[in-house]
Amino acid sequence: MSKFITFEGMDGAGKSTHLAWFADALRQRGHDVIVTREPGGTPLGEQLREILLNQPMNIGTEALLMFAARLEHIEQVIKPALRAGKWVVSDRFSDASFAYQGGGRGLDWDKLSLLEQWVHADLQPDVTLFFDVPVEIARQRLTNNASLDRFEQEQADFFERVRAGYHRRVSQNPQRYVVIDAAQTINEIKRKLEVIISSI
Ligand code: TYD
Repeated sequence: MSKFITFEGMDGAGKSTHLAWFADALRQRGHDVIVTREPGGTPLGEQLREILLNQPMNIGTEALLMFAARLEHIEQVIKPALRAGKWVVSDRFSDASFAYQGGGRGLDWDKLSLLEQWVHADLQPDVTLFFDVPVEIARQRLTNNASLDRFEQEQADFFERVRAGYHRRVSQNPQRYVVIDAAQTINEIKRKLEVIISSI
């Protein structure tokens, strides 16, 4: 049986560090796994990613482009893979739009819900791993990185709102999420992921 699994968390939470390892662990259990990301995941989506991460724009435009990239991603990659019995692991999905455009930028939550209904009323992740970490720790991890994109350059208060946006999303549908304390060490998180893998 195919599964759709998403990884979420603010920049610096460390989710990307764990994603490749997680996908390999699933493969070792015999699953056919594809790893993908948002914004991106298709040729057009990757072009939109380049624009979204670098080009200043209206908040509404930002949300619309995120969902435009997502529509391509769903129709061209996610749904065909799921239909073929594969497991899809995506680095971010719509929760990021609620957290960043809704929480971070302050775009009306209802507008995002409308876009979500439009673009994927019939699809939600089976499981979302939310890497939750205090803003201060995430910021410290980010400063070790050389080049920061348009989102990563935001200030601490933006990321507090992003985190609150994620928490709001989790509280609206708690059964879909596994919340991971991402302040832990990499090995501690790996142990937690092993437990998660044996339960899904
Ligand atoms: P990210 O996933 O953190 O990739 P990398 O690890 O390569 O930096 O980068 C994607 C950025 O896009 C991240 O800052 C969050 C932002 N984003 C949104 O604002 N809304 C969305 O809907 C998505 C999918 C991402």
